[in-house]
Amino acid sequence: MPSHRWARRVLWANLVAQIGIVVTGGAVRLTGSGLGCSTWPQCEPGRFAPQLHEATSWHPYIEFGNRTLTGVLAVLAVLTAWTVVRQRERSRGFRLLGAVPLLGTVVQAVVGGLTVLLDLHPGWVGLHFVLSMLLVAASRALLVRHAEGDGPPRQLVEARTRTVSRLLVPLGAVVVVLGVITTGAGPHSGDADTPYRLALDPATVSRVHALSVWAYVVGVVALVALTRRVTAGRVRTVARRLLVVTLAQGLVGYVQYFTGLPEVLVGAHMLGAGLLVAVQTNQYLSLRQRDVVVRSAPAAPAAPVPTLPDRLPRAEARPSGRRGVRAGRGRPPDAGPPTRGPAPRPPRARR
Ligand code: HEM
Repeated sequence: MPSHRWARRVLWANLVAQIGIVVTGGAVRLTGSGLGCSTWPQCEPGRFAPQLHEATSWHPYIEFGNRTLTGVLAVLAVLTAWTVVRQRERSRGFRLLGAVPLLGTVVQAVVGGLTVLLDLHPGWVGLHFVLSMLLVAASRALLVRHAEGDGPPRQLVEARTRTVSRLLVPLGAVVVVLGVITTGAGPHSGDADTPYRLALDPATVSRVHALSVWAYVVGVVALVALTRRVTAGRVRTVARRLLVVTLAQGLVGYVQYFTGLPEVLVGAHMLGAGLLVAVQTNQYLSLRQRDVVVRSAPAAPAAPVPTLPDRLPRAEARPSGRRGVRAGRGRPPDAGPPTRGPAPRPPRARR
């Protein structure tokens, strides 16, 4: 059985890798480094790593870095599943959640392959991104669930606060999906030869995306206000953290919009989206606590009643006290003389 601390490290590494792959995948797309390596799985014939020579551009390194992280991610997803699924004493839901990064990585490999086969269509590029966000959310939830027990959730805040936090989930999803559509309409949609793939005005879509962000910001500010006096658990800290990440991400969004979408900022915006999804998941789950359930040990089998020698006098042969009663079957010592036939009915309770 993996130790609690070792399991925690694996789950953190998995989360970092799930966010990191969004950034390295984005770097490949934004710099057009997809063909930086000429073969697969090797980068160049006979070599797994790119070779440095005078004419080398940085494209092979970006593509190689992405491939390396993909391998690390797959190993970590396997380790995560192995670590969580083996915890037999934990709830089924938690153990199933442990398999999600691995299953999701397999699905992402298929979607990623289809995305290349379909000429990096923005619809598939966007789906690839959204699936990654779901995997980030699942990976963060795993860390929270790992740290707590499987008891029934105990709410730490009033219903109003929970409603605002719950509303932020679909709102956050709308922000991310509109962001993906904005990318699909913009110059970094995926295919450098056909930059504007979605027949939408990039400026208009950006404004709609920014509007949804403002609605989200209002929700996060309300959450911070509602939790400002809550001292239980991590409620207040995590709500404030969500506000900081949201404002930083919004700032990067505006700066990239007004500076002509430089690749570095677009990459930072993708990293920000991953961080925001992770913090929001943590925030949502911070509003309740689940205690460790102490499972009672299985009942010990009833001790066999020693057979008494036939010749003993009757007074000694009759078991006395509770120790002589077989669990659930014997007659209590004060039950009176034994009767034949069906057991008499207990007297009816008087109304
Ligand atoms: C909570 C804040 C925000 C979140 C979570 C967010 C999320 C996202 C996401 C997920 C994408 C798609 C990334 C991709 O597919 O590669 C995106 C793209 C974009 N976002 Fe945001 N965004 C936020 C704020 C803003 C703001 C305030 C603006 C200002 C206009 C903005 C402008 C853009 C633009 C222009 C793109 C397209 C970048 C490109 O061409 O690749 N974002 N955003």
